[in-house]
Amino acid sequence: MSVPLSLSGKLAIVIGGSQGIGSTVAMQLAQEGAHVCILARNQDTLDELVQTIHQLGGQANAYAVDATSSAALENIFIHMHECFGKVDIFVHLVGGFTEFIPFEKITEQEWNQVLQLNLTSALLATQKIEPFLNDGARIVYTGSIAGLGPSPVAKSYMPYGVAKAGLMTMVKYLAKEFGSRKITVNSVSPGSTATERVRKIRGDAGLLEVAKGNPLNHVLQPEDSAAAILFLVSPQAQGITGTNLNVNAGSVM
Ligand SMILES: NC(=O)c1ccc[n+]([C@@H]2O[C@H](COP(=O)([O-])OP(=O)(O)OC[C@H]3O[C@@H](n4cnc5c(N)ncnc54)[C@H](OP(=O)(O)O)[C@@H]3O)[C@@H](O)[C@H]2O)c1
Repeated sequence: MSVPLSLSGKLAIVIGGSQGIGSTVAMQLAQEGAHVCILARNQDTLDELVQTIHQLGGQANAYAVDATSSAALENIFIHMHECFGKVDIFVHLVGGFTEFIPFEKITEQEWNQVLQLNLTSALLATQKIEPFLNDGARIVYTGSIAGLGPSPVAKSYMPYGVAKAGLMTMVKYLAKEFGSRKITVNSVSPGSTATERVRKIRGDAGLLEVAKGNPLNHVLQPEDSAAAILFLVSPQAQGITGTNLNVNAGSVM
């Protein structure tokens, strides 16, 4: 039996939604009937995804923006509000890192960049979208298994883990901040997931090795985290706020 998520007529924003877990979330939101505004930097990738969603009968628009610029985000949110009205669903997936830099070689610049991309961008985007959220809206951020601490079985990257731990704590503060408006705030924290970016960092053999460290021996796919995000933005999740949902196949419990 499948339970309908009732997202028809909802306006959703997916930041970091053109690739990886984000593009899966955007596609699934559109399939469930939401109108999806997808934000990322690369216009071509955005256009391709929007075209696919339109071909499948969904509603989507794309906006090219660097999510570390709060002024650029604010302009886009004002424009979206003028065109489509208030926002029901806000999913933030901007984040990640590109290589494991040894502890002694982590520069101040690298540290600041990783925190800006994974943590500060979430704060700035939330400040700018807040005036345009409907009461009862849903916010979901993307944490990480790395935010729970270093992996017992695989390489972990400290600046990234620290940023994601901060993000997962921010969730609790914002859940309290927005609670009086019935806005829920949660995070979904994937384990190593087979997106193009992570396949480049760990390799397919590395992902299989990581999977051996979880009880399900499962190589996580973007759909695994997307399913958790879709549930948290649904009307069914109205009683869940200030929490983090791990999607790591039991690697860390
Ligand atoms: N995959 C994993 O194993 C894993 C595990 C734990 C947590 N996560 C978290 O899940 C989220 C998604 O990961 P992913 O592997 O799916 O990443 P991904 O495939 O690299 O996708 C990232 C998305 O964000 C966009 N983006 C990146 N930097 C941006 C910026 N400055 N401004 C606007 N958009 C930006 C990218 O498009 P453009 O490049 O065109 O901007 C892309 O659409 C991240 O927060 C990551 O930390 C992932």
